Amino acid sequence: MKKILFVCLGNICRSPTADGVLRKLVADSGLEKRMLIDSAGTGDWHIGRAPDSRTIKAAARRGYDLSVLRARLVTQDDFDEFDYILAMDKSNLAHLQKMKPAHFAGHLGLFMDFAPHMGYSEVPDPYHGDEDDFERVLDLVEEAAQHLLKKIV
Ligand code: 4NP
Repeated sequence: MKKILFVCLGNICRSPTADGVLRKLVADSGLEKRMLIDSAGTGDWHIGRAPDSRTIKAAARRGYDLSVLRARLVTQDDFDEFDYILAMDKSNLAHLQKMKPAHFAGHLGLFMDFAPHMGYSEVPDPYHGDEDDFERVLDLVEEAAQHLLKKIV
């Protein structure tokens, strides 16, 4: 069983998208029993809320249902639970590196490192952007999720 946690700032746009996209890839590959997937945020503004409506709509157009997800904060316990903790940008990663306990033996890094050919080291924050920014999140996340799955399985 591999456990993967995606982390962004608000846990309402990028990391829930990664969560939903990888969940569907895993389900379509019949690997549900071998992978546990979750997402969390480094900021606390949206705790308990569903993903941003623009995120839900953009994902739904590509066949992903994010409506059941609820935002939560990343916690110290996550370092005991998860094997892969993947940050959407360098600011999230810096936050996680400060939290990381010395005994954490898993992989902490940037999600886009799994798809370097895309030319993005970070998934840009779409929160103050337009529809194209939300589409770009999906483009990047779909590609990185596929390569992550290939690498892990
Ligand atoms: P996310 O996007 O980190 O991809 O969920 C954001 C959502 C909300 C805020 C920032 C980024 N915010 O400042 O409220």
